[in-house]
Amino acid sequence: MKIMNFSEAKSLIAFFSRAGNNYVSGKIVNLPVGNTEAAANMIQEITKGDLFHINAVNEYPEDYTETTEVAQKELRANARPELTDHLASMASYDMIFLGYPNWWGTMPMPVFTFLEEYDFSGKIIALFCTHEGSGLGRSEGDIRKLCPKATLLKGLAIHGTHVKDVKKDITAWLDKISAAF
Ligand SMILES: Cc1cc2nc3c(=O)[nH]c(=O)nc-3n(C[C@H](O)[C@H](O)[C@H](O)COP(=O)(O)O)c2cc1C
Repeated sequence: MKIMNFSEAKSLIAFFSRAGNNYVSGKIVNLPVGNTEAAANMIQEITKGDLFHINAVNEYPEDYTETTEVAQKELRANARPELTDHLASMASYDMIFLGYPNWWGTMPMPVFTFLEEYDFSGKIIALFCTHEGSGLGRSEGDIRKLCPKATLLKGLAIHGTHVKDVKKDITAWLDKISAAF
């Protein structure tokens, strides 16, 4: 299937990202735009896909440590936090770029909710994950379990601290994806 040139494919860039206090190179810094959102915006500029921000109804605390505690509880409980927004339809998309930060070794639980909400059969999923050292963690395996009938491409791990400098890496990753089809 020749789908890239990305303008030929209808693509969705769905991402979770938390603005606010974050740990950057050993310091707490207030980020007005989360790292994953910054990466999602770069992907959108190139692919011209539709952006969808995955947000939980119960917002995460602005405080970093409090967020890590809430996130750990949700992970242990295998929670499915309720989402604020829903797509009218997933059917029209061929390609889904799925972005999230690495939280405790996998995706934030709202991304699990998102993946269970829609039918990804026959879709191509390209994942990108921002992190502070653990890369993709267990997330690829978790996505595979949640979307067994989707084709999962090799994901891109992005060091969150350096997200402003990764446009080249993102372009190279998108070029590789486009060459594969
Ligand atoms: C709750 C929480 C848990 C995290 N767990 C990890 C982790 O296990 N491994 C890691 O490398 N980074 C971890 N991080 C760092 C984030 O993955 C990193 O800062 C990411 O770029 C944040 O993306 P965002 O700004 O889009 O939310 C964690 C951050 C938070 C808030």
